[in-house]
Amino acid sequence: MTEHSHRPIGVAVLGMGNVGAEVVRILLQNADDLQARVGAPIEIRGIAVADLGKARACATSLLTDDPAALVKRPDVDIVVELIGGIDVPRTLIASALEHGKSVVTANKALLADYTGELATLAADAKVDLYFEASVAGAIPVIRPLMQSLAGDTVQRVAGIVNGTTNFILSAMDADGEDYDVVLAEAGRLGYAEADPTADVEGYDAAAKAAILASIAFHSRVTAGDVHREGISSITAADLASAATLDCTIKLLSICERIVDSAGRQRISARVYPALVPLTHPLASVNGAFNAVVVEAENAGRLMFYGQGAGGAPTASAVLGDLVMAARNKVHGGRGPLESTYASLPIAPMGDVNTRYYVSMKVADRPGVLATVAGEFSARNVSIATVRQEGAEENARLIVVTHRAPDSALSETVDALTELDSVLSVSSVLRLEGTDD
Ligand code: HSE
Repeated sequence: MTEHSHRPIGVAVLGMGNVGAEVVRILLQNADDLQARVGAPIEIRGIAVADLGKARACATSLLTDDPAALVKRPDVDIVVELIGGIDVPRTLIASALEHGKSVVTANKALLADYTGELATLAADAKVDLYFEASVAGAIPVIRPLMQSLAGDTVQRVAGIVNGTTNFILSAMDADGEDYDVVLAEAGRLGYAEADPTADVEGYDAAAKAAILASIAFHSRVTAGDVHREGISSITAADLASAATLDCTIKLLSICERIVDSAGRQRISARVYPALVPLTHPLASVNGAFNAVVVEAENAGRLMFYGQGAGGAPTASAVLGDLVMAARNKVHGGRGPLESTYASLPIAPMGDVNTRYYVSMKVADRPGVLATVAGEFSARNVSIATVRQEGAEENARLIVVTHRAPDSALSETVDALTELDSVLSVSSVLRLEGTDD
């Protein structure tokens, strides 16, 4: 069969939410171009939805409420999973792979825990498992890590991979409003879900960090391996303090190769809100945008920026995967397999070197600064700057440290809370994006 007479490639779409509807729209609208790029027509065989009665912008004859039957159909070559959740898509994807279908999914929560299981099924069936849309929406980051940088050694992948929290923190910074006010506004504008827990408590970002760390470091990292802190305790006062240090606050996902004094390599994967200097490229990523900075031994620093969510941007990444999977069906060959040969262990958060920003309300009397400094020095933590704000009953000390093991820093904070002269530790944040 010549390239132009190849039989059509059949596609099953599971889920017709914002992203699914855009995938179907683009498949129908760009059918001729996609056919030319693939070397065969791409034909939608069926679209699985939960509610057959709901009005949709597609032929009703394509709709089905039986995704389990759809993914096994002999005329389906590729399954696009956009349902979300874990148990149902896990079963459907496994069945599709076992029946020899390639799979494209945007499901980060599923991949964060089950990439190993699904990748094994894909390898056994000699089909593709693609998931570019699972991290940072439209931004190409999975394929650059897996393919473009396959010959390099990635040291660090750090970025803003959750648009909801970036929208909230950016608005708090710009307007001086408190978290609850901005969260309610984000809900009204459609940026935050009715239940925002997965976003604001960092679960979404942690799932994405697990996927990025697995690929970057050729090891299997799951969501439970990622140290996670959310943004719900960040206050307008924190952002105001950050501004006085020429910083802003961002929820960062950081995946790092760390090497201990004996030369052993480990992975640190962590998500937390951190002070970021205004001069750092991530500081100017505002609103619902995402950005990922990759540092590799030979490539140096690369930055990827764009829309990390939304129907059409996420559908763009899904379509990219779909075209790759379809080309492989037409021309033979397969995309990259999961690579976990390095099997690097995960470093506990306490072993990771970080910098702390500590803001505390203190008694304003001689010797207090020395006592506070003594707690840092007792744990071998070096102070970079100290500033006093206010006086008498409104005195606050703001300490920024140099890099030290996170365990030493958190033990220092615990000790500070026990001091009579420290009335309260009002805020503790890490500082990222500096060289010292
Ligand atoms: N909820 C995610 C975000 C988008 O706010 O960025 C999907 O990954």
